[in-house]
Parts: sequence; C-alpha cells; structure tokens
Amino acid sequence: MHNKLQQIKKEAEERIKTASSLEALRNYRVEYLGRKGEITAVLRSLKDLAPEERAAVGQAANRVKDHLEELIELKTQELNARALQERLLQEKLDVTLPGTPRLSGGKHPLTLVREEIENIFLGLGFEIVEGPEVELDYYNFEALNMPADHPARDMQDSFYMSDEVLLRTHTSPGQVRTMEEKNPELPVKIIIPGRVYRRDDDATHSPMFHQVEGLYIGEGVTFADLKGILMLFAHKIFGQDVTVRFRPSYFPFTEPSAEMDISCVICGGIGCRTCSNTGWLEILGSGMVHPNVLRAGGYDPEKVIGFAFGMGVERIAMLKFGVDDLRLFFDNDIRFLAQF
Ligand code: DAH
Repeated sequence: MHNKLQQIKKEAEERIKTASSLEALRNYRVEYLGRKGEITAVLRSLKDLAPEERAAVGQAANRVKDHLEELIELKTQELNARALQERLLQEKLDVTLPGTPRLSGGKHPLTLVREEIENIFLGLGFEIVEGPEVELDYYNFEALNMPADHPARDMQDSFYMSDEVLLRTHTSPGQVRTMEEKNPELPVKIIIPGRVYRRDDDATHSPMFHQVEGLYIGEGVTFADLKGILMLFAHKIFGQDVTVRFRPSYFPFTEPSAEMDISCVICGGIGCRTCSNTGWLEILGSGMVHPNVLRAGGYDPEKVIGFAFGMGVERIAMLKFGVDDLRLFFDNDIRFLAQF
C-alpha cells in the first residue's frame, strides 16, 4: 500500500508540475482527489486493512492528499500569472501612436464670407441691422421707387404670398425700414445681411441666396465717399492687388447708379472663362440714394444725402474660393464643406 501511494504521488507530482493549462489541472484534481480519485480510493480502502496498518497508511494518504492540493494550488497561481503576463504583453500600449482625432464642426463657407464682410464694415463704423424675409410689396418695391407698373420689377421674378406680401427679392427694403426707425437721426450707417429669394435656378443662381446691403446717409456725403469705401472693401476682401472700376448703371432706388467691377481674380485681368474674357468681374450694385427713397424713409432730400450698395454673398464666396457651381454651397456635402 505504501509503495502504491508513493507511486501515485510521484506520477501526480510530475503531471501537475508539467501541466500546461488550468483545464489539465482541473482534470488531475478529479483524477486524484475527486470522489472517484485514486487517493480517495486509498482512503476508502483503509477499512480493509489490518487495524495496526490503518493509522500509518491513513496518515500517509492524507499527507499525499494535502501535498497534491497544495501543488495544484501553486500551479494554478503560476498558470494564471503567466496568462496575465502574456495578455499584458499583447495589449502593449504605445503612447507615441497618434490619437483618434475628435471631429469638430466648422463654419459654412457662406457664413465665413458673410462674417468677413460684416467685420470689414464694422471696422468702418457701420452697424448691422436685419429685416424680415417675408416682406411687404411696399418695402420691397414701392418705397424703393418701383411702383406697381415699373418694368424693373420684371428682373426680380418673385414668390408672392398674396398681392401685398412676398419673400423679399433683395435686402434693399431694409433701407427704408431702418430710415423709418431712425429718422431724424444722422448719420445712418448700416449694413443689412440676409437671405433673399427669386425665381432663378442654375449654376450661378439659386432661388434662395444671400445679400449684404449697405446704406450711408448723412450731410455732405458724396460719390467720392461711395467710391472710397467700396474700393477699400474690395481690397480688404480680395487683396490689395485687385483694381476696381465703376460702370454707369441703373437702379430705380439710386441716382446716379453704378456697378462696381474688380479685376478678374482668376486671370488678373488678362481675360479668361470666369470673366468671359473681359478681365473684369461684377461685384456689386451701388449709387446715391434716390430722393424718393429718402422721402419714404422720412428724411428731407434737400438736407441729407447718402449712398447705398448691395452685393451677393454667394458670388463673392465663389470668386474668393474659386467655386464654379453655386449649388455646391447648398448640397451640404461634407467633402466640400470641410475644405473651408
Ligand atoms: N438690390 C439690388 C439687387 O438686388 C442691388 C443693389 C443695387 C442694392 C444698388 C443697392 C444699390 O443698395 O444701391 O440687385
């Protein structure tokens, strides 16, 4: 019996020491110490031994049992530690790897340009005001010296809510609204940014687009002031290299009227597709405020004088960024928007 115990012990020790997995250890525990295990069998067979042998064999078997329990426990700890070590090695953290960037939103290119325009005029002492997008025919046309039968209305084919109410076709109605509010205050020095609406839809026209209107009324304001301020604006927004020219034009709400061109920002004035080989790009409409418009705003055209201008934000953004299709601004394709 003693020999058998020693043999079991030797075999079990060997197997436990060389075990390569926790599962193998669990199996050995069952095999030697479980209900039907070999050591358990020895302890159970004690009753068959002679009484004088029983105590010695019983003690020996229990020692082997405790010894094997301890070996299994130690080996279990060893295997667990090794598994942890291996996992840590695999999960190696490389702090020099670039991190995962967090995407942050950005401003829409039209917002960037609108803010740039606003900041230039704020710097020149202008104030920003806003007007309603759903406008009365009176402010959109009538008060701007465009009575019901005026042919200039045809150029602004429009969205009417009723005979009297429409989506504003330009930001100019804000001129009269502001004058009504401010008179007799002087000077009136404002810009009016905002959305406008027309029945147009192609690569350079959208039914909804943005304008910035300007109005400067005071005493002794001259056409030279108009030229100076708009020239300065052109240089700030397109750079010192551009030259400007003023062409006589017609708007019902200004007299005289002029359109301002800048030398083509694409070809520098030589002539290209963007400027239709003219070397010039039309940027805005302007003029000295018509006496009828001053009157509609509550000012006396004999005492005050001023100039006004209006520009399209999309057009300026297209020229500034070299965008050739206006519809890109409204598609909301992140691949386009992320470039600004
Ligand atoms: N309202 C004009 C348009 O939408 C632009 C314009 C031209 C505005 C001349 C002005 C101006 O204030 O003086 O086409």
